[in-house]
Amino acid sequence: MDTPKHLLNDRYDDRYFDVVNAIQEAKQLHIEGACVIDRLAAAAAAGGKFRIGETGFGAGRLLVALMDSLEAGGVAGAEVDYCSVELYPVSIEKMRLLLGGLDCRPRHIENLTDAYSRIDTSVPGWHRAVLSGDFGVINLRLFIGEALDMAVTLDDYCDAWFLDGHAPSKNPEMWRAELLSAIGAKSAAGATVTTFTAAGYVRRNLIAAGFCVQRVPGYGGKKEALKGVFLGNS
Ligand SMILES: C[S@@+](CC[C@H](N)C(=O)[O-])C[C@H]1O[C@@H](n2cnc3c(N)ncnc32)[C@H](O)[C@@H]1O
Repeated sequence: MDTPKHLLNDRYDDRYFDVVNAIQEAKQLHIEGACVIDRLAAAAAAGGKFRIGETGFGAGRLLVALMDSLEAGGVAGAEVDYCSVELYPVSIEKMRLLLGGLDCRPRHIENLTDAYSRIDTSVPGWHRAVLSGDFGVINLRLFIGEALDMAVTLDDYCDAWFLDGHAPSKNPEMWRAELLSAIGAKSAAGATVTTFTAAGYVRRNLIAAGFCVQRVPGYGGKKEALKGVFLGNS
């Protein structure tokens, strides 16, 4: 199927996400594949926070998929820090266009676009916005700038990392050893990492960063994906 023009990020000649089932693929790998809802619910039951790191915020589709999964899972009282980074932020109009028609509860898209519209993405550095719902609270912490600067300045350890920075052939910068090592350094013991990228050097860079990594089946047109667990103790 041809990629609709609005889904293409011209700068990288790659799509923001897949044409079909973008929410479902996000849920299958990043959320269900890393047992995020169960782990997050356990943290909430213990009165703790769960921290997610993401490389490549784009249109925020993974965050929308997370809210949809939290609601479907009946989670209540959660507190999530969602720490993401974007070097070339999309406009609010572009975000609405990209998210429009995705297969999820529309209120989650409205929740995100409301929060995003309150962020001045022309200012580099860390920004904050709060998204709330029946599931609890998500503190969106969005770094406008380069991914390595985000990882280095992140003041906490993440429990799950979603790596979504375009294909390595189109954007090798997002998969370089220095960045993945900084991500390892900001991972809690047992933190998970998930990505639809299965390139050998990405796997090797993740292993060097302290993750135990396995290849798993991809989704839709993607043959393989990677899942990993942080074995270190940052
Ligand atoms: C595949 S898209 C992300 C899609 C997003 N996760 C979503 O679900 O909507 C990859 C994003 O990474 C951003 N990006 C590329 N290189 C970057 C870098 N070095 N630092 C930060 N962001 C970068 C791109 O601008 C693009 O928005």
